[in-house]
Amino acid sequence: MPAESVNILAIESSCDDTAAAVLCDGKIRANIIAGQEVHRMYGGVIPELAGRAHQSNILPVVQQALAQAGLAANELSAIAFTRGPGLMGSLLVGAGFAKGLAIALNKPLIGIDHLHAHVSAVFIEHDPIPKPMLCLLVSGGHTQLIWVDEHHNMELIGSTLDDAAGEALDKAAKMLGLPYPGGPFIDRLSREGRPDAHTFSTARLPDYQFSFSGMKTSLLYFLKAQVPGFAEQYLPDICASFQEQVVQYLLKVTRKAIVNLKPASIALSGGVSANSRLRETFVEMGAEFGLPTCIPSFEYCTDNAAMIAMAGYLAYQRKDFCGLDVMPYARQPSGDGAFL
Ligand code: KG4
Ligand code: ZN
Repeated sequence: MPAESVNILAIESSCDDTAAAVLCDGKIRANIIAGQEVHRMYGGVIPELAGRAHQSNILPVVQQALAQAGLAANELSAIAFTRGPGLMGSLLVGAGFAKGLAIALNKPLIGIDHLHAHVSAVFIEHDPIPKPMLCLLVSGGHTQLIWVDEHHNMELIGSTLDDAAGEALDKAAKMLGLPYPGGPFIDRLSREGRPDAHTFSTARLPDYQFSFSGMKTSLLYFLKAQVPGFAEQYLPDICASFQEQVVQYLLKVTRKAIVNLKPASIALSGGVSANSRLRETFVEMGAEFGLPTCIPSFEYCTDNAAMIAMAGYLAYQRKDFCGLDVMPYARQPSGDGAFL
């Protein structure tokens, strides 16, 4: 008798994107995302508005995902949702919806860590991949180096002491008068600029730690010292230089971890891995070390539910289910090298 298929519905609502995905036997069959334009005029995400928008988007997004996958709700094996970290008001909408569905369908519920899912995004298109794998996770809220073993267990080996890489790019963009989120605008403008036009200070830290606050402050003082109109006139050069410094710094710390820990493969994930310069240089670094190098497609880099579905599928195989009393968390629980 053929084995029964495993169909996972996943919901992601940690910040300002409402997303749902369906994964059938390890393959993504639907990946739907509804963004929230409402925050753009404020130059950042307004938590209250994000929660309200999730509430109106979640049902149509889930229905669309099921329709695209050609699956009825009663054919689902389990419901996975983002447990945290993220905005509590946003997480509660996804968690509440997932719980309701799990009760109505009498299916297991799987709570997924958002950062764990960003790393799991790598396995959507690249599995099996040689392990141990070293993953550089760069998003708007986190910059981490994660060690992944043969059983997909993850250990945090380094992180940022202050700003995340995406946050530094977004704040730099704001200083330069660019819209929010500024990372993609810096990426685009940098293509016409000189990466060696300016230098900004970078932190030297022990182990595999990162810090971006000094680089950001260095840009602020640089801009303050210029004559009016300078930033507008030389915007591509400033963007390209700042971006290059962020990218080279990320690579420098990652390179140190490769040399010391000798992984069998390397991967890049999180929203900032959509950055064209980072993608290009990360692949070059992989080639330099002769290591298999994995970077998810764009649609799986920024926040999406396909990555929650993949992490949910791995958890389903381990029967790692949660009770209906499960609570979301705004911050990732910390501990000795712990990573959920
Ligand atoms: O993973 P993500 O979608 O959300 C979080 O979990 O934070 O990452 C969002 C971050 C933002 O800081 C955004 O500016 C950045 O990813 N980002 C980029 C690019 N696309 C998105 N940064 C640089 N270049 C890009 N092309
Ligand atoms: Zn994210």
